[in-house]
Amino acid sequence: MKIVIIGAGAMGGLFAARLAAAGEDVSVVDVWAEHVETIRTQGLILETGEGEVRTKPAAVTRVEDLAACAADLVIVFVKSGMTAAAARSAQTILGPVGRVLTLQNGLGNAEMIAEVFGADRVLAGTTAQGATLIGPGRIRHGGRGDTHIGRLTGPVDDFCREAAMILSRAGIPAIAEDAVQSLIWGKLVINVGINALTALLRFTNGQLNDHAETRELVKLAVAEAVQVAAASDVRLPYDNAVEKVLAVAAATATNRSSMLQDILRGRATEIDAINGALVREGVRLGVPTPVNATLTLLIKALEKQQGICG
Ligand code: PAF
Repeated sequence: MKIVIIGAGAMGGLFAARLAAAGEDVSVVDVWAEHVETIRTQGLILETGEGEVRTKPAAVTRVEDLAACAADLVIVFVKSGMTAAAARSAQTILGPVGRVLTLQNGLGNAEMIAEVFGADRVLAGTTAQGATLIGPGRIRHGGRGDTHIGRLTGPVDDFCREAAMILSRAGIPAIAEDAVQSLIWGKLVINVGINALTALLRFTNGQLNDHAETRELVKLAVAEAVQVAAASDVRLPYDNAVEKVLAVAAATATNRSSMLQDILRGRATEIDAINGALVREGVRLGVPTPVNATLTLLIKALEKQQGICG
């Protein structure tokens, strides 16, 4: 399979490095010129518990530079605010029967991609892999966990199973599944509970478990998310959402959440696709979400204070 990854930050870089190390034909597209140049000249270095893995996937800053590519699979890993633009740019490189996979955080990414390619050509899901972008050309592999992928419409098919097998063979254990919305909402609830609070407090994920106040804040934010999910007729992939979120925070205790990493790097966060999206869904369905509305406003204010343009 010819694979192109759009967005070679922490997660995109991790997937690119693992796939390239497994001998897959993989290229990356990223707007950060220094990162791309470093990958091109020195390679992409993945720091793992077992040492460094260096690979050299093709790397470009503009999709057009891969014009003759005809990819079988495009994996979108840009920040959610860039998804629509990434999907439009993927039009020039996706082969005639190729598909686009999103494993991004938040709501709405798969639907934005479906607007460009049609829902039949979209795969979506979640990944519990953890990674940090250390600097140009260098990614650290953090926590490991399963990746779940499915079709936006309909049950899994051979393409979906093959994509999951290729990822698994590359050391990213992946499972093809039917209930994509359940997966996406399951991850959304986790991000709702962890990301904004860790970014506001500058806490690692694990520190949310250390204080009664932060456990209570997680509980309040997550309780709203559970109500909105129920009103949307989405069945979450776990029974006790608060316990699940606190367990993920414990399992990724030393991680800085992606939203905290964005704030520390002076980049726009994914607040609109996470807590903000939940508030919008709540308004649509008549479910009050005052805690998530407050978290959304606080993150937006923090972005302004840091001079970050949304
Ligand atoms: O966005 C993130 O950082 C991750 O999805 C998660 C699960 C919160 C772990 O840090």
